[in-house]
Amino acid sequence: MNKKIFAKLLAHSQNNLDKITQPYIQETFGVQVKRCDTIEQYVTAIDDACLHKYFSKYWQNDMKKWKYSGVTLIDEVNSLKPRAVLDVGCGYNEFKGKIDNLVGIDPYNDRADFEVSTLDYKTDQKFDVIMCLGSVNFGNRDKIIAEVSRCVNLLAEGGTMFFRVNPGVQHDKPEADWIEFFGWNVPFIIELSEMFKLKVLDIRDDTNQRKYFVYRKQKSVDLC
Ligand SMILES: C[S@@+](CC[C@H](N)C(=O)[O-])C[C@H]1O[C@@H](n2cnc3c(N)ncnc32)[C@H](O)[C@@H]1O
Repeated sequence: MNKKIFAKLLAHSQNNLDKITQPYIQETFGVQVKRCDTIEQYVTAIDDACLHKYFSKYWQNDMKKWKYSGVTLIDEVNSLKPRAVLDVGCGYNEFKGKIDNLVGIDPYNDRADFEVSTLDYKTDQKFDVIMCLGSVNFGNRDKIIAEVSRCVNLLAEGGTMFFRVNPGVQHDKPEADWIEFFGWNVPFIIELSEMFKLKVLDIRDDTNQRKYFVYRKQKSVDLC
């Protein structure tokens, strides 16, 4: 749950839902949501609406600015000769047509092949490569672990996952004010590798304080 939104709603409402009015939500968070039955439901709906507004209308990208996790990934991923590649939170789907056999998913950008979140994406397909570039970074630790777990399930044995993560730096635009950026760090990257039996192939400092890292899912025979 988004702690910033929860704290704001709790302080305002003192647990009286009638105080969470549509004008209050619009004025405070700059979004509109349907009426909810609990404060937790309001937090989820407002969080989703804030992410939607920011990533569909305000956020812009420049893939060329990343030292490791931008355009340089095109050759790196293609050299793996993947049968299927998943770009999780693909934004404007900039790798489409440049990386072979790529599917881009994103709940808030209509350039995605499928407008769906990581947790809601349903498929029986397994991917040789999954890219999570700035997209597994919103919400609390439990949500991040659930999203990484989903990606591990979608990854073929022996497959490779490329990540770019934010250590918790807030984006500059005011429309991002209510977004909760999870604070990634190296111990957590290692902890996840142990939790999901992933091999860490690389960890580097990328541009803008971001971390770039690569996991490989080991084959079950190698785990025995
Ligand atoms: C910082 S942008 C990065 C976009 C792109 N991967 C890139 O490198 O330019 C984060 C992206 O994650 C997407 N996103 C946010 N929550 C998501 C979720 N639960 N599942 C999948 N994508 C999500 C946003 O819509 C946004 O396009």
